[in-house]
Amino acid sequence: MACIVNFSAITQPKPQPCFASLPASTSSHRSNSPKLQTSHLSFASNNSRISLRYDRTLAVSPPRETLLSKAPNFMIVAAANKPEPLKIMISGAPASGKGTQCELITQKYGLVHVAAGDLLRAEVAAGSENGRRAKQFMEKGQLVPDEIVVMMVKERLLRPDAHKNGWLLDGYPRSSSQAIALKEFGFEPDLFILLDVAEDTLVERVVGRRLDPVTGKIYHLKYSPPETEEIAARLTQRFDDTEEKVKLRLRTHHQNVEAVLSMYKDITVKVNGNLSKNDVFAKIDNVLDELLEQRKAGSGYLEANKA
Ligand code: AP5
Repeated sequence: MACIVNFSAITQPKPQPCFASLPASTSSHRSNSPKLQTSHLSFASNNSRISLRYDRTLAVSPPRETLLSKAPNFMIVAAANKPEPLKIMISGAPASGKGTQCELITQKYGLVHVAAGDLLRAEVAAGSENGRRAKQFMEKGQLVPDEIVVMMVKERLLRPDAHKNGWLLDGYPRSSSQAIALKEFGFEPDLFILLDVAEDTLVERVVGRRLDPVTGKIYHLKYSPPETEEIAARLTQRFDDTEEKVKLRLRTHHQNVEAVLSMYKDITVKVNGNLSKNDVFAKIDNVLDELLEQRKAGSGYLEANKA
């Protein structure tokens, strides 16, 4: 695609920034042709780079439109998009290790972690009307109604940090209606990670889980014990982390998981979540690395009009 842009503010092919709002990096060269003298400008904004070429030939024999604007011509000769930030979903049964893996993924990839359960617990802690209603369902291990969860997640995903850095959606969607709503809002993931863990292991993980209210870090009394006595003393347990409640949560999970999986089957990667947390992460890390490599290769340099 060739596109001619007229810059009325520039009368010489000097490499200089044209847009005050965009950081510009400039370079210039002149071709051997006496008629075709060029200067290159390039501009980088958040996600893209545009290269412009000043075309002296067009300036010497300008087309009618250019005469009207009395300005020399720049052509967009190349546009290279930075790869879009990653958009990932992570799913799995209660205590399959979603939150644990999200900590590791966000540390390395800088994605914004959006956990439906955390958003709901924050509402419960704040004592809001939504929190009060949500808690009644959470205590029974049931899904909180869509009218509470859907908007909560949507609003979080719309925040600028998620748009800029990409997102990692944890524990959402959990029903086909949530998946459909997400799609209608325009949120489409690149990858759906499914953590697969044996049921006995899940119960053991739930009852041993502890949380650090200061750092938000997830511990397990056996598998990930706290580093110091001081941390151990302040750990808390979630109100739904009992053997009785996890069984209810598991039932809800089994009732809904197939509907969600069927909507993302083309982009699903199943990961063995029975391994140690670092081994699980190594597998996820490989997949994300590969996805990013593919992204970079695919976002190449679009030569619109070679000099
Ligand atoms: P939510 O908070 O999402 O709970 P969950 O899905 O049951 O998942 P968990 O947070 O319990 O586990 P996790 O997979 O994050 O495991 P973790 O990494 O902590 O939801 C709670 C409730 O909110 C729901 O029941 C529902 O009522 C409501 N809700 C949430 N989302 C909703 C939605 N979309 N719609 C409607 N309602 C919704 O690990 C667990 C333990 O295991 C930890 O102690 C950890 O240290 C340990 N561990 C982790 N990985 C390993 C490993 N590889 N090896 C050994 N130990 C490990």
